[in-house]
Amino acid sequence: MVILGVNVDHVATVRQARKTFEPDPVMAATLAILGGADGITVHLREDRRHIQDRDLKLLREVVPCELNLEMAATEEMIKIACSTKPDLVTIVPEKRQELTTEGGLNVRDLKEHLKEAIQRIKDEGIPVSLFINPDRADIECSKEIGADMVEIHTGYYSEAKGELALRELQRIKDAVAFSLSLGLKTNAGHGLNYYNVKPIAGIKGIRGLYIGHSIVSRAVLVGIEEAVRQMKKLIGEACSGV
Ligand code: PXP
Repeated sequence: MVILGVNVDHVATVRQARKTFEPDPVMAATLAILGGADGITVHLREDRRHIQDRDLKLLREVVPCELNLEMAATEEMIKIACSTKPDLVTIVPEKRQELTTEGGLNVRDLKEHLKEAIQRIKDEGIPVSLFINPDRADIECSKEIGADMVEIHTGYYSEAKGELALRELQRIKDAVAFSLSLGLKTNAGHGLNYYNVKPIAGIKGIRGLYIGHSIVSRAVLVGIEEAVRQMKKLIGEACSGV
């Protein structure tokens, strides 16, 4: 069964809108786990616009399943990762002005820098995933520089409609198959929601899906346990071919 990592950044976004104590992403994480989440993801950004250092510390204490830290490969973040010891680090590109992570890592241009960052994190016993576009050369390069896993960017698929969405889906399927053939564990995420998740969850061999915005959005209306339960049901159906 494909695992579901729930990204709780947007719970922190609402809290930071007032710089207050609520809603607490740590509470949201524990409820998401009760709803069936297999893991919790947070992106600690350089500008701390949503998740705070305190959230990561507490999550490390209370999350009994996969805690996935998304981060840029900066000196500050590498040190935080090595001392916090999440279960997985996903390296993502980060730009100050972006609304969310835009596009996958430019793995080939950043090859040497990423290789060193990956090694330092792996030396602490933490597996490393790279968030990349569905591109063969980027997948090959990820393998070459020592990544344990990749997360294939599904954002273009999520934004596309009709024929274009089908072409993007095929691109993701080809990327997943190629990545698996190189022995990389292969995840997917970005922009997935209750309407477009099934074709991705049904891709053979995919390890996990990382979903945030749509689950937190639904949680505003139905509560986070129920929102996670509904997403897990769709993923389960796709995995069993329903
Ligand atoms: N995966 C990665 C690497 C991301 O950066 C994000 C956004 O934080 C997600 C998955 C989740 O994307 P969304 O919030 O659109 O579900």
